[in-house]
Amino acid sequence: MPSRKNIILIGFMGVGKGSVAREVIKISDYMSIDTDDLIESMENKTVKRIFADSGEEYFRSLEKKVSHWLEKSVKNSLISTGGGFYKQKNLKNIGVVVFLDSPFDKILQRINSHPNAAKKLKKRPLLNDLKKAKELYEERLPHYRALADIVVDVTDKSALDCAKELLTKVKKHA
Ligand code: S3P
Repeated sequence: MPSRKNIILIGFMGVGKGSVAREVIKISDYMSIDTDDLIESMENKTVKRIFADSGEEYFRSLEKKVSHWLEKSVKNSLISTGGGFYKQKNLKNIGVVVFLDSPFDKILQRINSHPNAAKKLKKRPLLNDLKKAKELYEERLPHYRALADIVVDVTDKSALDCAKELLTKVKKHA
């Protein structure tokens, strides 16, 4: 297989990075990696537990470790990231940055319409206070946009349609 750049998915919590990644791997030969999954297996703890035991700063230090490993060691992959991973300085060296965009209200709607909505909210410490989460969204949005090589608006679209749009845009971008 010829060497391809990684695709690195960024965007706010609950926007559907994991769901889109799962569709991309069904319809392409990319394999996917999730930064939160890597961190959970490194620590043998959930993200929620890491935040509770050691705080956000420690969690960010783990994201930094993961970002260095991704840059050095990972190729040809679709990398799905936690909503704060965009803060890593080497994002552009890891791969083509794809921002999944959607208004805050639509993201909440998406989470709340899920059969496991309560669980989805509970596992994300930074979504516990919705007023604060909205502020975080407003604060991050310009950064997500500035970092993006490609934007996929996921609002009211199926994960499969988003995955197809993403792959078409990545091909054009290459
Ligand atoms: C975070 C997003 C979460 C997870 C952690 C912090 C954030 O990932 O990394 O709770 O800072 O936005 P998801 O975006 O997959 O929810």
